[in-house]
Amino acid sequence: IRDGPEEVGRYVGNYIAKRINDFKPTAEKPFVLGLPTGSSPIPTYKHLIGLVNKGELSFKNVITFNMDEYVGLPRDHSESYHTFMFREFFSYIDIDPNNVHILDGNAPDLVAECAAYEATIKAQGGIELFLGGIGEDGHIAFNEPGSSLSSRTRIKTLAYDTILANSRFFGGDLSKVPRMALTVGVATVLDAREVVVVVTGQRKSVALSKAIEEGVNHLTTLSALQLHPWALIAVDEDATAEL
Ligand code: GLP
Repeated sequence: IRDGPEEVGRYVGNYIAKRINDFKPTAEKPFVLGLPTGSSPIPTYKHLIGLVNKGELSFKNVITFNMDEYVGLPRDHSESYHTFMFREFFSYIDIDPNNVHILDGNAPDLVAECAAYEATIKAQGGIELFLGGIGEDGHIAFNEPGSSLSSRTRIKTLAYDTILANSRFFGGDLSKVPRMALTVGVATVLDAREVVVVVTGQRKSVALSKAIEEGVNHLTTLSALQLHPWALIAVDEDATAEL
């Protein structure tokens, strides 16, 4: 627990940097990192960018896999997760764009796209550390309430609450928010050797308490982390309001 979002970002940024540096990634043995979008990870991204600028961290031998992407939103749309990742993070670090993996929500065969994504993760030896955020309903990636805890990368219809929450990025216009997304599954996240989730702000406090203080439940998919041997939830004071 840290005071606010900036302090959480600094803590998580330092934590990830240490993991990457201790791993000593090489071209033959890269560090495989799972990444989220949303406002929650932005302070972490800012801190990581700072560490790269200071020469304390390099993404040269880091391979990334993003959690999710909207279906049907043009890749260059300002709110596509592809655009978000380059705008908020990738454009400022020394990552090879060929090492960046983001689901293609405009692929002609979405089912094949999801299967190929899982296969690529596997071919890279699995994800070392998956960084995540949560929705107000406790979803991780776009694993909306009711998602199977053994789910894999797939197409998901967004819950009304998620469309409502994300409409703030579409000028408050619900009709502009895509109705579907591609997302890694809960099991894809659980397969990572380590999971780190950032939860900040009071609007996430009910979800956080359900995920931590109630049982494992597919209505709050973050709760699946209770089954993971190495999971960390980094929160700010506001997010603990219901604990
Ligand atoms: C979307 C993303 C999630 C993210 C959530 C929270 O639903 N698919 O991966 O965790 O937004 O976003 P924010 O951090 O902006 O609250």
